[in-house]
Amino acid sequence: MRILDIIENKKNKKELSKEEIQFFIKGYTSGEITDYQAAALIMAMYLNGMSNKETADLTIAMAYSGDTLDLSSLNEIIVDKHSTGGVGDKVSLILLPIISSLGVPVAKMSGRGLGFTGGTVDKLQSIPGYNTNLTTEEFIKQVKEIGISMISQTLNLAPADKKIYALRDSIACVDSISLIASSIMSKKIASGAQKILIDVTVGSGAFMKNIKDAKKLASEIIEIGKLANRETLCVLTNMDEPLGYAVGNNLEVIEAINFLKGEVMPEDLKKVVLELGAYMIKLAGKGENLENSKQAMLESINNKKAYNKFLELVKHQGGDTSYIENVENFEKAKFMKPIYSEKSGNIAKINAEEIGKLANFLGAGREKMEDKIDDAVGIVLSTKVGRKVQKDDVIAYIYANDMNKLELASEKIKDIIKITEDPVRKNKMILDVIM
Ligand code: URA
Repeated sequence: MRILDIIENKKNKKELSKEEIQFFIKGYTSGEITDYQAAALIMAMYLNGMSNKETADLTIAMAYSGDTLDLSSLNEIIVDKHSTGGVGDKVSLILLPIISSLGVPVAKMSGRGLGFTGGTVDKLQSIPGYNTNLTTEEFIKQVKEIGISMISQTLNLAPADKKIYALRDSIACVDSISLIASSIMSKKIASGAQKILIDVTVGSGAFMKNIKDAKKLASEIIEIGKLANRETLCVLTNMDEPLGYAVGNNLEVIEAINFLKGEVMPEDLKKVVLELGAYMIKLAGKGENLENSKQAMLESINNKKAYNKFLELVKHQGGDTSYIENVENFEKAKFMKPIYSEKSGNIAKINAEEIGKLANFLGAGREKMEDKIDDAVGIVLSTKVGRKVQKDDVIAYIYANDMNKLELASEKIKDIIKITEDPVRKNKMILDVIM
């Protein structure tokens, strides 16, 4: 077999065989196939599209291109949860301790944030001492002992995806639905879960900007799940404005802790947490009725079981629990500035991508994987789409460590938070469920 013939076939719109796809993935992972040959093939896949079979074959080949995690010794159904990315998305930090406190085991490997979206690992690492780098043995032992572990991807999982994702990023081929579906599912399959729940985010702060594309992505994901024998369910959630109020690592962790303590539960965040949680409980075989599961989740917040589970998680992974017990301990940014509304009206739009980029400008995110994040900076909104505001009401707070950036961000955020005189409906959070 020759890579040149495989490129030629895809260029001429022929469906690639499983063997051809495996040959490409093996050769590219080992370095025998060059970046320019891989770029040509990926571009042909992008332009000519992929059949369901090609997408599934690509996914499986990438999933088995490196290490795979075997979770069978846990003797329980493990459900993995993954979000296609968002701004202010602290759902995993809240949801996973809740369901763990209800007896659903959680063995979660998360990624870092890139571009305008945040990553769960960065948020966990903003808790002083929290170790995201457990060995596989420690990870599994902890799940057995306390029913939850949340770590970063320490294993060499799906290395082909890592290489191809970086390549796609450099040749403007990220936004292909088939390539996104296979990229996500290859990592999920490699990480060993039997059942998979994907939060497909939709809107300005997500990869999928509209519901039509999100549905297409969800059905490709489901199709791959079927062919790979992993029960998969997609919940389409709104990511047009940031989720909850806080954007930035410390600020988001504080919001998650306050939620788990039952002190402040932003309505949009609560809807997403409860819906995804109810489906995870169902997939794990621990509760068929979604409404009952939502009630049980709220109860675990009220009786502090969910919060105590989070404390236990942090303690087992070496984190300083005094930060959880008293969020005032988290490092503060040097400057905090309230932003006042310049007019009265209704909040029409808070573009999530723009807010994510603004938080990054303050230092809360990274453009390249090597960049360092400033955990203390970010934005806390004081309003949501659909709410009324009066002139001079506080609409947001900016947290910054650099005075110039603070001033620039304070101006910019006034353009991002759009106010209209017309009535505006708040965003619907759960847009669809596809299984
Ligand atoms: N997330 C991934 O893991 N892969 C993609 O291609 C896009 C989003």
